[in-house]
Amino acid sequence: MPHKVQSHPDEARHSGTEYGSADFLVVSNRLPVDRIPTATDDGGWRRSPGGLVTALAPVMAVRDGAWVGWHGAPDETLDPFHHENMDLIPVPLSHDEVELYYEGFSNSTLWPLYHDVIAPPEFHRTWWDAYQRVNRRFAAAAAGAAAKNATVWVQDYQLQLVPRYLRQLRPDLRIGFFNHIPFPPPEIFAQLPWRQAIINGLLGADLIGFQRPNDTANFLRSARRFLGASVKAQQVHVKENDGSVSHIARAEPFPISIDVRQIQELAERPDIIARARQIRADLGNPKTILLGVDRLDYTKGITHRLKAYGELLTDGVITVQDAALIQVASPSRERVETYRLLREEVEGMVGRINGQFDTISNTAIRYLHHNYPVEEMVALYLAADVMLVTALRDGMNLVAKEYVAARSNNTGALVLSEFTGAADQLKQALLVNPHDIDGLKAIITRAIELSPAESSRRMRSMRRQILTHDVERWSQDFLTALQNEAVRDDR
Ligand code: G6P
Repeated sequence: MPHKVQSHPDEARHSGTEYGSADFLVVSNRLPVDRIPTATDDGGWRRSPGGLVTALAPVMAVRDGAWVGWHGAPDETLDPFHHENMDLIPVPLSHDEVELYYEGFSNSTLWPLYHDVIAPPEFHRTWWDAYQRVNRRFAAAAAGAAAKNATVWVQDYQLQLVPRYLRQLRPDLRIGFFNHIPFPPPEIFAQLPWRQAIINGLLGADLIGFQRPNDTANFLRSARRFLGASVKAQQVHVKENDGSVSHIARAEPFPISIDVRQIQELAERPDIIARARQIRADLGNPKTILLGVDRLDYTKGITHRLKAYGELLTDGVITVQDAALIQVASPSRERVETYRLLREEVEGMVGRINGQFDTISNTAIRYLHHNYPVEEMVALYLAADVMLVTALRDGMNLVAKEYVAARSNNTGALVLSEFTGAADQLKQALLVNPHDIDGLKAIITRAIELSPAESSRRMRSMRRQILTHDVERWSQDFLTALQNEAVRDDR
């Protein structure tokens, strides 16, 4: 049932005595909608691609839910609005906050720190101040919209202080948090000048979810080391200032997945199958098509992949007549310097390799710096004999799972970095350490030459895993555990 949202995120602090009407709230940095670029009026929104919203939209519809998040434009305050059965509560960010909180602390401090310091994280007090301020604003918006005893599910690294702020405003709420990216080992997390505040922020939740058991263990080790917390059976007894126990926070792994049904349905659509055929034909019907699909991010190991591919061409192991690599690199965080530099590096490499190996009729690498709709992505998955996922560190990597879900005839090979969360589940992938360029070359060669029998055996086993673990199951598992956690706490 649709309902009216009773408060506005930009209102001053929540008093702690008024309640909103939503009994299930999701809080994430971005709202699950994008503006349609050509639309002229306010109705011009469409649902963003991605599994999270697919999994949560039905829960919202049943439970009188609302979603709190930024709508993606700076210096713009929007009223709450309704879209496809969801109440959306936009949180405004100023131009400066986009720079300091989003591009700064979230994506130039936390992102590299949590991804094995592949790029050096920067620590600036002004960024930290903005991070706290914006996290307070998200917490106030959620506090104003949540009904008494509602469930609130906070998402990802941009909002790690929200659970604590929210509990301070609304101790009646049941609060969950899920971290979509890795949680680093304490030896790396130690660098963060505000490490205690971040752990305290997360411990405001009743249940803290991570992608892998390793991330969970890293977090609990950090809680012990930096806060002196006593951890038993993945639980922390969180104390008030006077030493009394305020609540029990539990940390647990919940590996996220994809909307399997959507990918499978698209993979069976005749127009998408025809499009896949067309893609192959447009590339000159080479024996092997290899595919990489990534946000243009330094964590994805795109340069390692290109280096290995370029060397295989130089060595004559592959030729442009026999093989083509399609690399989709979707634009991301383009105002952040490290991302700009990466784009130059990747495009320089592609240019050099193509310059050396292309012929008039064949290309070594078809590089595409675009966003594509999911239909085109599935056509690419169907067209590709070999999928290359070579991330240096990745919380999960849903592209790997989508490729597997699309391959209903059990053909194709998945080369998968062992540093992705997905490697925990897709054990029959061709696993690789992407830092080892010789190893990467060997595994790409093996993927190209994989026998149909072995390819089918591996794909069947991976499909069994994916088909029984979709994103809906993930969200149900998390919400059930959150429910149980709160019940345990009440006793
Ligand atoms: C990762 C993060 C998400 C983020 C997405 C896109 O998957 O875990 O929280 O939304 O990247 O990045 P962006 O900065 O464009 O939101």
